[in-house]
Amino acid sequence: MNRVQTLFDLSGRVAIVTGGAGLLGYHHGAILAAAGAHVVLLDLAVANPALRAEQLQMAHGPECLGLAMDITDEASIVEAKDAVMAKFGRVDILINNAANNPKVEDQKPGQPWSRLENFPLETWNGDIAVGLTGAFLCSRVFGQEMVKRGKGVILNIASDLAVIAPDQRLYRKDGVAEEEQPVKPVTYSVVKTALLGLTRYLSTYWVANGVRVNAISPGGVFNGQPDEFTVKLHSLIPMARMAEKDEYQGAILFLCSDASSYMTGQNLIVDGGRSVL
Ligand SMILES: NC(=O)c1ccc[n+]([C@@H]2O[C@H](COP(=O)([O-])OP(=O)(O)OC[C@H]3O[C@@H](n4cnc5c(N)ncnc54)[C@H](O)[C@@H]3O)[C@@H](O)[C@H]2O)c1
Repeated sequence: MNRVQTLFDLSGRVAIVTGGAGLLGYHHGAILAAAGAHVVLLDLAVANPALRAEQLQMAHGPECLGLAMDITDEASIVEAKDAVMAKFGRVDILINNAANNPKVEDQKPGQPWSRLENFPLETWNGDIAVGLTGAFLCSRVFGQEMVKRGKGVILNIASDLAVIAPDQRLYRKDGVAEEEQPVKPVTYSVVKTALLGLTRYLSTYWVANGVRVNAISPGGVFNGQPDEFTVKLHSLIPMARMAEKDEYQGAILFLCSDASSYMTGQNLIVDGGRSVL
């Protein structure tokens, strides 16, 4: 193997991706499998992680696993960890990717649930439970397996909204009263920013145990959003476009492999330049 291959090779390693059956989790898993890792997709039963893991394995080779579970329930995470240990005997990589991500641009006028004044406490608690508490619990459960082996990587998926405020003009609808204008929910900013705190905390907590912990802050991915939204968003991004679904794969592989062996506690912003403006 030459130096480039050695830096990025994940042969024999076991990588967990939470929310792994979703839009981006699958692509994150795909690049890790392509680099040789056994990938375990964790997701709610409704997202059919077993089917997605089968597709991943067919496309990339190494044996993969899909487990239906719920990251807000610690017993469910421990059960998943036990299944991973029984099958593969180790955990090398954890990507905390699952989050509630309601599509504000699809919100119907007259139903402004996303506005701060109306935001249901139940939604607040639910979003924090998945995006933040879920990442904490998965890090605790899977991180301890890494500590036992003296090596591991945790990668938290944050967002450009972990480093900048949402620009609520993006979500405005013509002819809708001010108090009914949809907005990006407060929980998204709170969860993503808090993940950077979790990243820094864990990075020093387990530094002597060989566990590196970083975050990535991706910008928005194009997934058929209406022109009304994308034209406004493009004008805020120096590269004047959204990301493609597989465009974070290079950064994900870098952060999960030995290519980033001297990096911990950091947040890699990959946003087409949006946050430099
Ligand atoms: N799509 C984007 O433009 C974008 C941009 C920046 C950051 N992100 C972040 O990337 C990550 C993935 O985004 P996505 O667009 O693929 O979202 P997605 O909604 O397609 O995927 C999220 C997955 O998490 C799963 N999930 C939800 N609750 C769960 C639970 N309790 N237990 C287990 N799994 C659960 C869902 O079933 C879903 O499959 C999220 O953290 C998101 O905030 C996305």
